[in-house]
Amino acid sequence: MKKIINVSMMLIFSGIFFISCNNMAKNKETVKKEDHGVYNGKEVYLFTLTNKEGNVLKLTSFGARITWIEVPDRTGTRDNITFGFDAFDGMINGDRYFGAVVGRYANRIAKGKFTLDSIEYNLPINNFPNSLHGGPEGWHSVVWDSEILDKSEYPAVKFTYRSPDMEAGYPGNMVVEATYTWTDKNEIIIDYKCSTDKKTVFNITNHAYFNLHGAGNGDILDHQLVIKASSFIPVDTFLIPTGELRPVAGTPFDFSSTHTIGERITQDYDQLIFGKGYDHTFVLDNLEEVDITVYEPVSGRLMEVISDEPGVQFYCGNFLNGTLIGHGGKPYNYRSGLCLETGHYPDSPNHPEFPTTILNPGETFKSRTIYRFSVK
Ligand code: BGC
Repeated sequence: MKKIINVSMMLIFSGIFFISCNNMAKNKETVKKEDHGVYNGKEVYLFTLTNKEGNVLKLTSFGARITWIEVPDRTGTRDNITFGFDAFDGMINGDRYFGAVVGRYANRIAKGKFTLDSIEYNLPINNFPNSLHGGPEGWHSVVWDSEILDKSEYPAVKFTYRSPDMEAGYPGNMVVEATYTWTDKNEIIIDYKCSTDKKTVFNITNHAYFNLHGAGNGDILDHQLVIKASSFIPVDTFLIPTGELRPVAGTPFDFSSTHTIGERITQDYDQLIFGKGYDHTFVLDNLEEVDITVYEPVSGRLMEVISDEPGVQFYCGNFLNGTLIGHGGKPYNYRSGLCLETGHYPDSPNHPEFPTTILNPGETFKSRTIYRFSVK
């Protein structure tokens, strides 16, 4: 009898201990900093941000990138929903854009050329015949300085990069900051701040891939998408804008009400053929708080995107082919991830009719994009 009482007391105490540990884990927001590797002689750090809900965001100073977003499904089971690699070398040798901050010019510049104040600038051609995402050694492939923001209300890390004059062919010494905040509402808030000492052009984005089933768990064709955009930017066969802003109404690009990504992707429509699927900028209406929602009905995960940028490149992983092996040894197959890259329009320096991407000395560019996760 005594033994039974002792055993049950032990069980009660361990239960209380377990519950209080669990509450502690739930209530403690933390940012952990670890060595991640070395690139070009510079230390790279990995940051693990845990919010009050116990959900985890991981960032690395290589490319100021997101490598892990661990959020629950509707049963409370957590999974990572973004692309990344377990090993540092995977990140260096694999797709360099996964989760990265992209600059100096996110997206394409036709034939790698633009003119500013009568001077022609020539950029590296890394996506024939164009320059893509700031060239092969853009901001995605440099080590950024990093700082944990201790005074922030939520776990936050600020990355800073000083991009020298004529880096990747672009004029001006630029100072770029990308600050990530991981709130208790499971929002990744990305704040960008940029300045230059010479007139220049630039376009910044984050290139995270998402799969709300969990990264590496099937394709994204069943994800239900809404984009608050009345028009999109048609491109030529090299994915360079023609200059037209085409109304989405009556086209497979109309996501003003809910459609799955797969529903119309194989339609015989010129732009779907040129893009090999969706790989286009949508002109955001910017009228409502939430610009984009993505819902995955099996897990119940919902992602909302809010941005003050004029556009979003919706890319649905048409060039993925399973050769990249990511977290947990899972291959990233054809259309197994989608990107919603907020920013300016492609090739804007050669399209004066598009919102300007010129930054002058003395000006400070500021912009914010939020990725918010919940369940429905
Ligand atoms: C582009 C795709 C490109 C991909 C590379 C996207 O932003 O729109 O065309 O293949 O980046 O990761």
